[in-house]
Amino acid sequence: ATPEEERMKEAHAFAAEYYQHLLIHTEEGEKGLSYLQQRGFSKEEIESNGIGFSLPHWDSLTQLLARKGFSLDEMEQSGLIIKREDGSGYFDRFRGRVMFPIRDEQGKIIAFSGRILDSGGEDAKYLNSPESPIFHKGQVLYNLDQARPIIRKERKVVLFEGFMDVLSAKRAEVFNGVASMGTALTTQHLAKIKRLTDHIIVCYDGDKAGWEAAKKAAEMLHAEKLNVEVALLPTGLDPDEYIQQFGPEAFKEKVISEPQSYVAFMLMHARRNKNFQYQNDILQYVDEALNFLIEGISPIEKELYIKQISMDTNISSETLEMQLRQKEAQVV
Ligand code: UTP
Ligand code: MN
Ligand code: MN
Ligand code: MN
Ligand code: MN
Repeated sequence: ATPEEERMKEAHAFAAEYYQHLLIHTEEGEKGLSYLQQRGFSKEEIESNGIGFSLPHWDSLTQLLARKGFSLDEMEQSGLIIKREDGSGYFDRFRGRVMFPIRDEQGKIIAFSGRILDSGGEDAKYLNSPESPIFHKGQVLYNLDQARPIIRKERKVVLFEGFMDVLSAKRAEVFNGVASMGTALTTQHLAKIKRLTDHIIVCYDGDKAGWEAAKKAAEMLHAEKLNVEVALLPTGLDPDEYIQQFGPEAFKEKVISEPQSYVAFMLMHARRNKNFQYQNDILQYVDEALNFLIEGISPIEKELYIKQISMDTNISSETLEMQLRQKEAQVV
């Protein structure tokens, strides 16, 4: 890192310390604290994850960092403050939000995500630091610094949609969780994962967006030759909500420990919105489904999935196998 980048990280370290002080020791921080307590955060979790609170004022961080010797230019380039469009000065980017630090792989804070307390208004639920010389969203996986040794040891990683899910999962003793920062998975994220393990469990939200994102991520990871599994949640719940509702043990034992294989998940996806009363839907499903059985799959799995497809469609296993052999012949 350049000296300028080191300074930016230093500014983030001061900011995080300040935000945490405000959260824990000031009256204005009480709102943030009770919000976090209500979401199940203990004091230890707040401290070990460096969570804080930003005041609903225009320049309290700007003033603090100025006292620490940072120039306005440095603060602005690091994304912590924003230059007014009319040139009349600067203001703090994060105001009145619960502050979650985002660390790089060395554990240095390089950005923040700030959550509003009441989701009712028109402000975005999470405000993230902008791209900066030290923060590249497409490269950062939340919690990778802490998860890395666990990922190596357990030889697998769990990919969540939100960093709140990563934090809740720790309560279920799932310590190998990471999340992208509100962006789809990139090849750069993937490169970082591949260095640690070839086994990944995708555990996205149980809603339409989560399903679609999980499908995209699974396809990409599978194409990159990773062993992908998908842990499914009941409709309407994300991992954090599941843990609140059913408890951490259930999350570990029923969700994380019993993921769907890549093929089983893709078959499930292919089945969605199909009505097997209709011949067209049957044909389309069989065609999509058999494509997943063409390569990289054991004979036993092949037989199991053929049986499944046969049950779904009422077409005999023999016929499906014949069709699969035809498909395989076309591929070569
Ligand atoms: P979700 O909407 O699923 O957030 O977005 P969540 O983790 O469940 O948050 P809570 O439980 O309501 O607090 C998943 C991820 O998308 C990004 C964040 O990184 C979040 O973790 N996101 C979401 C944003 O960046 N901005 C937003 O306004 C919303
Ligand atoms: Mn850079
Ligand atoms: Mn979501
Ligand atoms: Mn969610
Ligand atoms: Mn959530």
